[in-house]
Amino acid sequence: MPGIVIVGVQWGDEGKGKATDLLGGKTDWVVKFNGGNNAGHTVVIGDEKYALHLLPSGILSEGVTPVIGNGVVVDLEVLFAELEALHARGVDTSRLRISANAHIITQYHRTLDRVTERFLGKRQIGTTGRGIGPSYADKINRVGIRVQDLFDENILRQKVEGALETKNHLLVKVFNRRAITVEEVVDDLLSYADRLRPMVTDTGLLLNDALDRGEIVVFEGGQATMLDVDHGTYPFVTSSSATAGGAATGSGVGPNRLDRIVGIVKAYTTRVGSGPFPTELFGEQGEWLRSRGFEFGTTTGRPRRVGWYDAPVTRYATRINGLTDLVLTKLDILTGLEQIPVCVAYDVDGERYDEVPVNQSDFHHAKPILEYFPGWSEDISGARTFEELPQAAQDYVLALEKLSGSRISVIGVGAGRDAVIVRHPLVD
Ligand code: GDP
Ligand code: IMO
Ligand code: MG
Repeated sequence: MPGIVIVGVQWGDEGKGKATDLLGGKTDWVVKFNGGNNAGHTVVIGDEKYALHLLPSGILSEGVTPVIGNGVVVDLEVLFAELEALHARGVDTSRLRISANAHIITQYHRTLDRVTERFLGKRQIGTTGRGIGPSYADKINRVGIRVQDLFDENILRQKVEGALETKNHLLVKVFNRRAITVEEVVDDLLSYADRLRPMVTDTGLLLNDALDRGEIVVFEGGQATMLDVDHGTYPFVTSSSATAGGAATGSGVGPNRLDRIVGIVKAYTTRVGSGPFPTELFGEQGEWLRSRGFEFGTTTGRPRRVGWYDAPVTRYATRINGLTDLVLTKLDILTGLEQIPVCVAYDVDGERYDEVPVNQSDFHHAKPILEYFPGWSEDISGARTFEELPQAAQDYVLALEKLSGSRISVIGVGAGRDAVIVRHPLVD
């Protein structure tokens, strides 16, 4: 049972970092398979708080080999800054391995991300501005720069030249920006090459060999199902495959090696950036939930949009990912509510939809049909077994389980590493 995938169920920030870290002690490998430094995964260990962006959360566990898979886009400046910051805090980062096939985020990707967003005005996606979309666009367009290109200066120069030819037209003529020279990009990238070289390898081979030996590999997803480029609320999505299928293509293992697919879901919902969000709360209720849940972006510091739990979204994620387990996080945040609303279906212009509507415009118009569950007032942050939870909290969890289509195996009751209730272990 060695391949375990962790994916976000909603719009990100569900607590995937913590869930990955939770498995750290029992895991041999943690591979990040999609996204880049648009992610922000917070892990709290004792009094120490770590915010990881590009690096897999497994880097914090001794004995785990962290891997950046081929499906990731790598900003080298961020990579080395993050490595240095962890090193300074005493974390051993020497085991990190990076796929030779991963794509690079360059200066022109970051610039294009920001100017495109500004150009879109009201229609903007609300990206993290990290160059994620433009880098993946180049990959699909077959004009991307890969990690291995840094070790062949000639090839690198040719590829950068090719990529900049059209981009400089865009930058200068459409966006009114200065042209970017081949030299500045190549020099910047080459300045990292020597430090990068020892980490770069055929990570697909490493991971397949590890699985053959029966070692445990965690595939750590960035972003989430509703931000997936195929299955999310397109175009208000990220540009990668954040769902379970992406774990195979983004790491170089076959889908039959993914034994357990774990969806991380918050006991309510948040979203950063634009796009539909049927259960969104405004006004006082929204302020209350945002401040109580500390819902401010790990990457951009933006206040997160907040809303109630959306059961059709979790059912959708269960189908799309083939979830075997759910980790329900932040249950402790709901303490003190007299009643807890849960969205069980949608009303779209007078018609009831039990599932996420396939038509995006319908989802934009969807109003939540809410059911109300009794709340609890007891502090639950010290509970370590299901039975220690107040009856109303147990009932809330069981109701969500019934509505969501997969079993809730772990419940988060606080930010700390040990603040969990394990009903069914994720690793046998
Ligand atoms: P990720 O992007 O999915 O890894 O999630 P983030 O790290 O961006 O956001 C989740 C936040 O919730 C982090 O600050 C975590 O420390 C925190 N967190 C995770 N699980 C729990 C929980 O069960 N209770 C509480 N109170 N906080 C949690
Ligand atoms: P983690 O892994 C929440 C959102 C952005 C924007 C959209 C596209 O921490 O859950 P991008 O920069 O990726 O092109 O932005 O996706 N987004 C996230 N929202 N959590 C994340 O990561 C996100 N990564 C991207 O806010 O709406
Ligand atoms: Mg996050």
